[in-house]
Amino acid sequence: MKHVEFLTFDNRDALSEALADSVADTLQSGAKENGAASLIVSGGSTPKPFFQALKAKPLAWDKVTVSLADERFVDVSSDDSTEKLVREFLLHDDANYVSMAPISADETLDEGCVRAEAAFQKFPMFDTVILGMGEDGHTASLFPHHPALVEGLKLDSQRLCLPITDSPKPPPERITLTAAAITNCRQLILHITGDSKRDVYDNVLTVADAQQHPIYAFIEQTRIPLTVYWAA
Ligand code: 6PG
Repeated sequence: MKHVEFLTFDNRDALSEALADSVADTLQSGAKENGAASLIVSGGSTPKPFFQALKAKPLAWDKVTVSLADERFVDVSSDDSTEKLVREFLLHDDANYVSMAPISADETLDEGCVRAEAAFQKFPMFDTVILGMGEDGHTASLFPHHPALVEGLKLDSQRLCLPITDSPKPPPERITLTAAAITNCRQLILHITGDSKRDVYDNVLTVADAQQHPIYAFIEQTRIPLTVYWAA
């Protein structure tokens, strides 16, 4: 795949530093050229050291808006909340944040998704999007063989967000960005660590089926180059 670059690092700290440098460069140039920059990150266990490395970078954080490729639709006080993780390890006080978490205990998933969609419509494009990948080949909350993939993987979809009610990875209710939204960016990254994720990635390339492994949609698309950051 000519438009996919696979970068291997000696260890996870070296990966986190290199990724933080690269993302900081993109955000800084976006902020300089457009007066504002946007960063979309993923949750899970992988990104924490990268969040800490990026937070330490001297950036014009007041010009940066941070949000998520997907959110677990739970209160921000929950340990399942990706917003909680981002607020703890990445977000500067003066940075902006687009929340995909419920605004009240009464807000439904569909209402939250409409709110997130309206917030993301304000971005002409994102500067940086960082994806993760699950052992089943999912990315964001785009899961294998899920009905949401019909709209979720359509690169020309008008939808930026989709509600997910039955995520195979708990918690079940989530809001995910679509592939159309994710690929509308200046820098697209897949961040994976560990030998087993490397094996999954190799298998994803061999099987070459985005229904089975939604991450493949981002590997095969040519709208934006993909850079994979991997360390054992
Ligand atoms: C989540 C993320 C999910 C994550 C991958 C990788 O809510 O967990 O949306 O897409 O990025 O599952 O997660 P790990 O880093 O924990 O392996």
